[in-house]
Amino acid sequence: MSDEKTKRVIRFFDTTLRDGEQSPGCSMNLKDKLLVASHLESLRVDVIEAGFAASSPGDFASVQAIARLVKGPAVASLCRALPADIDASWNAIKDAQRPRIHTFLATSPIHMQYKLRLTTDQVFEQAVAMVAYARNLCGDVQFSLEDASRSDPAFMYRVIEGVIRAGATVVNIPDTVGYAIPHQFGALIRGIRQSVPNIDRAVIAVHCHNDLGLAVANSLAAVAEGAGQVEATINGIGERAGNAALEEVVMALQTRADLFQVTHGIDTTKIYAASKCVQTVTGSRVQANKAIVGENAFAHEAGIHQHGVMMNATTYEIMTPESIGIPRNKLVLGKHSGRHAFEQRLQELGFHFDADHIKRLFADFKALADRKKVVSDADIEALARGLETQVEERVTLDRFVVNSGNTITSTASVRLILDGKAVEHVAVGSGPIDAAFKAVNAILGLELKLEAFTLSAVTDDADAQGETNVKVRHGARVYHGNGLSTDIIEGSLRAYLAAINVVLSENVQ
Ligand code: KIV
Ligand code: ZN
Repeated sequence: MSDEKTKRVIRFFDTTLRDGEQSPGCSMNLKDKLLVASHLESLRVDVIEAGFAASSPGDFASVQAIARLVKGPAVASLCRALPADIDASWNAIKDAQRPRIHTFLATSPIHMQYKLRLTTDQVFEQAVAMVAYARNLCGDVQFSLEDASRSDPAFMYRVIEGVIRAGATVVNIPDTVGYAIPHQFGALIRGIRQSVPNIDRAVIAVHCHNDLGLAVANSLAAVAEGAGQVEATINGIGERAGNAALEEVVMALQTRADLFQVTHGIDTTKIYAASKCVQTVTGSRVQANKAIVGENAFAHEAGIHQHGVMMNATTYEIMTPESIGIPRNKLVLGKHSGRHAFEQRLQELGFHFDADHIKRLFADFKALADRKKVVSDADIEALARGLETQVEERVTLDRFVVNSGNTITSTASVRLILDGKAVEHVAVGSGPIDAAFKAVNAILGLELKLEAFTLSAVTDDADAQGETNVKVRHGARVYHGNGLSTDIIEGSLRAYLAAINVVLSENVQ
């Protein structure tokens, strides 16, 4: 067995903020993106792909803000292999401590013929010329052969050799449509290592999509064959069925270190917090049985398993919850707990707020402790995440009354404070939440369409807080908001207003 020093280092390139954000319903505002970037920094990923700078002025601004904020990981911006796109990427990332331009061009017959309408020679020349162009701007240039897994290997070898000669530091082999099968994808990476003469001058990266549920398996097969960089997203969010889940690849490499003989720089104890943050800001919850970060990932239901784990955890546990940073719920707070204990617990849970925010959170905690017998870690985390993702509030809930039952039409009277003034409206609806949302719409005069609504309990107790998540469409964009309360109508209104505050902040009148 090789020792730590001789092991190959696998670099993690996180694309939650680019490929992840591209997936339906996962768009994030600037504040959310900065929060996710700071989690990725704590997680110690090697590269953060911050966005696609040329795609819109908003994307440019968020890539630039992330590039200026992040210390440690390199910051990349994606761009097509075109001078204007490359310039936009460079302008957005040039202030980063470690900027990287990530440019791409498709190499598969299907994409070259129908999308690009270019011959193989034209694709080769454009790829080489654009990598050289990018290298004149930036010392770190990654080139991706889009749809590599459906490309002709011989043509890929030629392109890879050419772009490395032109200065590419990383060559990425994406399974763009999630078509590859692990042994075949591994063989593709082996073929590249054996057939491209200058391959030792660049890192081989892989970027796998999950259309056949094989993104993680394909990434691992590629690592086994010598890939040095894995591209992935937190919770596996991404186009269509998503990308390889970073937490799954990392924990597989770590748990089966006996097979892989590689190391990585990820601080796995930050996985849980990063996963929760991405769930909150995208409003996309992971399923309970999701590997590593799902609610049931470490739960043992069967008696025989529980007994085994009590005797010795390794009977049924291949990883510990602590290794991914799941808090141990060790301290339960109540209404007599003091500010010091609360503050300490917040810090242990990984939240670092300034004095002002702690004061606000402590007030929320006291209010919750009045409504709920015991306040657990999950409650504190939910409160803290709510504050972390809160935008400036132009509109807040003052009070509401609903009247509903199975034989009457629901009515809701809602009073909001809008720009400092109280405004009230009464509306009817097909249920109390529908009526309450209609009252809000009438007050604000906004055209909103509710696209998704989920409600889940934060803890198992009967007096649990409900966490509501809504997605609303305003024009072409979908906004989401979270709301917390022991009252589900109040929580729903809070979530709705949280989304509306983002709408208002982006559409200032
Ligand atoms: O899936 C893909 O091919 C991509 C590239 C742009 C890297 O996201
Ligand atoms: Zn992709």
